Amino acid sequence: MAGTRHAAITGWGMAMPDRILTNADLAEMVETSDEWIVSRTGIRERRIAGTQDTTTSLSVGAARQALDRAGITADEIDLIIVGTCTPDQFLVSQACLVQAELGGTAGAFDLGAACSGFVYALATGSQFVQTGLHNRVLVIGVDTLTRFVDYTDRTTCVLFGDGAGAVVLEATDEERGLLSTVLGADGAGNKHLYIPGWGAFVPESAELFPEYRPYLQMNGNEVFRFAVRVMGDAAAEAVEQAGLSFADVDMLIPHQANLRIIDAAARRLDLPRDKVWVNVDRYGNTSAASVPIALCEAEAAGKLAEGDNLVFVAFGGGLSWAAGVVRWGTEGVCRDPACRSRRGR
Ligand code: ACO
Repeated sequence: MAGTRHAAITGWGMAMPDRILTNADLAEMVETSDEWIVSRTGIRERRIAGTQDTTTSLSVGAARQALDRAGITADEIDLIIVGTCTPDQFLVSQACLVQAELGGTAGAFDLGAACSGFVYALATGSQFVQTGLHNRVLVIGVDTLTRFVDYTDRTTCVLFGDGAGAVVLEATDEERGLLSTVLGADGAGNKHLYIPGWGAFVPESAELFPEYRPYLQMNGNEVFRFAVRVMGDAAAEAVEQAGLSFADVDMLIPHQANLRIIDAAARRLDLPRDKVWVNVDRYGNTSAASVPIALCEAEAAGKLAEGDNLVFVAFGGGLSWAAGVVRWGTEGVCRDPACRSRRGR
């Protein structure tokens, strides 16, 4: 609705590690094959953080691109939110580590919702802008989950890659940015996808906690069934909540975990393949980074136009899910320096 404050996406950026791990490379490490991985997941290769890459360095790479694209500097940002489940350290927050590199004194905090983290963070950041508390928010989705992958476990090691994506949100009176938000979680499902250890919980003894291993544990079949259900349901609910029909959707930007899961979500919304952005073949599951990376690539391919309705949808550990309709474009965003003074409208 014009006249109401909205949070347009005015900048976007992504950063990927250089190192590529192909299915052929994995077939030399565990008993698997390119044929199995492609037919069950759609993944052909993924990017793996090298020793020079950190969650901070990838975040900063994506954030700098997003700030440049928005034409603003870090000290014009009011708030930094980082959606991640693989921060470089637990004290301090990933957001503060990013700010140390970017500069500025914006508020900074992390948000943990595993692979749904970016969409949760986008919803949170948009609220700060919509309420009028802030004018410009930097939202980052980043993960380096391969640091927690057991490369002797073929059921998980073929799935994940690393990367970062970021967006800048700015206030506008036009109907841009998030038009609807669907957030959900099934905490009881935490046992289907988790990383034991690396938290404050200490088992009384190793015998009492035989699963105590610092590697990602996953019940793939349970997660698959859950994902097919919630990706379709959450996306459909977001479209309905925005007052739109499936025919109004210009592009689905889904979490990239498995091509079969993406296809199921697209079928639910009745969308042809050319209205679904897919890059899981090149990056695998980059967790919280996957939606903003897909957004950047769809934009770079010339697929997004002012006023388009995009559906973001993600699922992940928690078990969690998140979806929203984003109206693309920057109409009504103030470019006059007078209304760009920090924390003033
Ligand atoms: N190569 C070859 N064979 C394999 C591999 C592999 N990499 N992995 C498993 N197999 C075998 C299994 O051992 C099994 O063999 P068996 O029948 O002899 O026991 C067979 O293949 C079938 O295994 P399934 O698990 O039934 O295969 P499925 O078709 O379900 O695919 C997969 C498994 C790809 C993991 C799928 O369940 C899936 O994608 N689940 C969702 C996972 C996911 O998206 N997780 C990320 C969540 S996001 C986050 O927050 C981190």
